[in-house]
Amino acid sequence: MNGNAELVNAHGVFLEYSDGTKVIDGSNTGAPLGHSHPAIVEAVREAAVFPVANEGQPWFERRLAAAELSDLLNVAAGEEWVGEVHFGLSGSEVNDIALSLAQSLSNRASFVVRDRAYHGLVGLSRDATVQPQWHGGLSFISEPRHVQAPPRAVPVQIINPPDGAIWERNQPKRSNVELNLSANCDEAMKDAAAVIIDYTQGGRYYDDPIYQDTVANRARAAGAYWIADEVVTGLGRCGSMFAFEQGNTIPDIVTMGKPLAGGATPGGAVILSKRVVNEMKQARWQNYSTFRGHPVMVHAMRRHLQIMSREGLPQRAAELGSYCSQILRQMANVHPCITRIAGKGLHWTVEFEGKDWKAWDSTEMGPNIADFVVKECEHYGARISTSDEPSSLFIAPSLIISRNELDHLFDALDRGLVAGDKYLQNQKQS
Ligand SMILES: Cc1ncc(COP(=O)(O)O)c(C=O)c1O
Repeated sequence: MNGNAELVNAHGVFLEYSDGTKVIDGSNTGAPLGHSHPAIVEAVREAAVFPVANEGQPWFERRLAAAELSDLLNVAAGEEWVGEVHFGLSGSEVNDIALSLAQSLSNRASFVVRDRAYHGLVGLSRDATVQPQWHGGLSFISEPRHVQAPPRAVPVQIINPPDGAIWERNQPKRSNVELNLSANCDEAMKDAAAVIIDYTQGGRYYDDPIYQDTVANRARAAGAYWIADEVVTGLGRCGSMFAFEQGNTIPDIVTMGKPLAGGATPGGAVILSKRVVNEMKQARWQNYSTFRGHPVMVHAMRRHLQIMSREGLPQRAAELGSYCSQILRQMANVHPCITRIAGKGLHWTVEFEGKDWKAWDSTEMGPNIADFVVKECEHYGARISTSDEPSSLFIAPSLIISRNELDHLFDALDRGLVAGDKYLQNQKQS
């Protein structure tokens, strides 16, 4: 693809650029139904004539959308768990809303997060973000190279992450809780308003019910709320409707975002448990934004939920996930550049030899193996993203991707990895 080419069109899982190139969209958690899905296009057309109803106006379809989302959560929780649903504008925003509510309820300021987490770049969600290259500040790339990140507004305690790898070079699979959830967990929880944990970021977690249950139980014992950040995983991406279903524990608050409106509009949701709502004791929650739960968003969201259920997309993600796992393990065995693979359903992280992530700072985002592999993949027909990580990439195609399209994506990845192996070899020789 020519370096100046712009995205001009997209259909299904394919992106089309101004130079005529067509590639598979391999990393897009905001497009669960791919691009220009006819039912979503129709929903947006229908909603174009709806009133501009702000969050304070009682728009009937917002109520229906909340009820439908509640049904999904109650099924996942195995009980009538939902107290209230509040819509939001983005994953970052709903995490900020959830965290500030936990602060108000607990009258505590600090949070507990897992290492290498990403929860967004707005207010408290930025404070809760640990990924070193996403700090919401400035990375000066001219000399003297340095990072000028905004200071955190509240104290944040970082607990060890679970492992979650399905394959690791030179490393047997570890027992996560034993090794990782050390004593610092109880200490961290002590004065915390909330612990917020997501399931995909930085290629950590994915599948570790013991980790979830241990953190959840320790949070409960310490009087901290447990917020499950399901911004990526909510609505099927990892093969179950919600990632928290893997454990026996049920969160106090669930946040959702990215895929919610089927890619038609931005959107988010904060879902409060009955327990949390009871603790609000009839208080008025003073949190508002004009376009939350906008009529176009909730209409598209309802259409997305219909398609998702009709086509059994979470189940599909689970089935394709087993296939992905098999193919990626095979690739790991033939490509020396791969050091670790983690993932589930249709969200996978492939890591390469490179500097340990704790040693990154975002001024180091120069030429690196991940960008090199991605460029090659693009040449062979798939766009894969690195999230600005110099030594890893994530694969998260639309949930409607066909087996043939997935094979095409993996074929491009395989070719990209051949180039990655050569890159690494050259680096070692020079
Ligand atoms: C787990 C998680 N939470 C929150 C967010 C923030 O979502 P958004 O970028 O839509 O604000 C992201 C974005 O990548 C995410 O991966």
